[in-house]
Amino acid sequence: MRTLEPIFEAIKKSAFRIQKAITDEDTDYSSQSNQSGDIQLKLDILSDLIIAEEFSYIPLIKAIASEEKEEEDILNPDGELCIAYDPLDGSSLIDVNLSVGSIFGIYDGEWDAKKMIAAVYVVYGPRLEMVTAYKGNVRHFIYRHERFRELEQIHIGEKGKLNGPGGTQQFWPTHHKQLIDTLFDEGYRLRYSGGMVPDLHQILLKGGGLFSYPGTTDKPNGKLRKLFEVFPFAYIYELAGGYAIDDKGGRLLELGCENPHDTSACFFGSKYEIDRVKEFYGATK
Ligand code: AHG
Ligand code: MN
Ligand code: MN
Repeated sequence: MRTLEPIFEAIKKSAFRIQKAITDEDTDYSSQSNQSGDIQLKLDILSDLIIAEEFSYIPLIKAIASEEKEEEDILNPDGELCIAYDPLDGSSLIDVNLSVGSIFGIYDGEWDAKKMIAAVYVVYGPRLEMVTAYKGNVRHFIYRHERFRELEQIHIGEKGKLNGPGGTQQFWPTHHKQLIDTLFDEGYRLRYSGGMVPDLHQILLKGGGLFSYPGTTDKPNGKLRKLFEVFPFAYIYELAGGYAIDDKGGRLLELGCENPHDTSACFFGSKYEIDRVKEFYGATK
């Protein structure tokens, strides 16, 4: 029987190595940019190399795709699984010492959200944590005394209290501003660090809320990349009992992805807040 354990173990090893690199290495920019036009930090490139090396030992992996590389890499033509990852999400927050993360989406055979079988994220913060979504469970691990120890499983509530609104407000559509203002008028509290991993982790662990990154006049399809950021968190939120939709009201996991670096407007949250998104966006799905 196929097991994903070697993949989870490789992610744990790379998490430990990346945490050490964040602590020990400097936060200089390199002279290169990635496919989305972001100038890469030396740490973005190093994290990518660490993960690619840990995955290179696993015959089950057919291909990997990284936010930091233009094209996919075929590791084993006879392998079964494809893994897309953002090696260091929120890396520009490292120089102000805020939490950052790594994000992984694991697919059966092809880069199709409907073929996703597991998703994982790692949080590099005051503590090192990992969350895995696989076979119906969202499991939460914390690194303590040199190994990852499991905490309680994660379930999101029906309605939360936190609001994490992404994107530049100046460029938000009017109905989006009305949605965000309405939630604040209802008593929601602002929780937005600019790192989607800790921001979405906080909403999951504190029982619910809304994280949004809308389409804007300057970026009609939003900023967050489907393969590297949006699909893995959509999978994790749905498995935890939450919802993950686009600005038409459809499930993010039903979207296609023509180019590995394509982006989508995205909304992650609990039932109540996602119903409000649909209402304000006039979504019929
Ligand atoms: P990355 O560092 O991998 O480029 O991604 C950063 C992302 C995400 O973590 C965050 O939610 C978003 O960028 C923040 O964007 P804004 O500053 O536009 O809100
Ligand atoms: Mn990212
Ligand atoms: Mn990144």
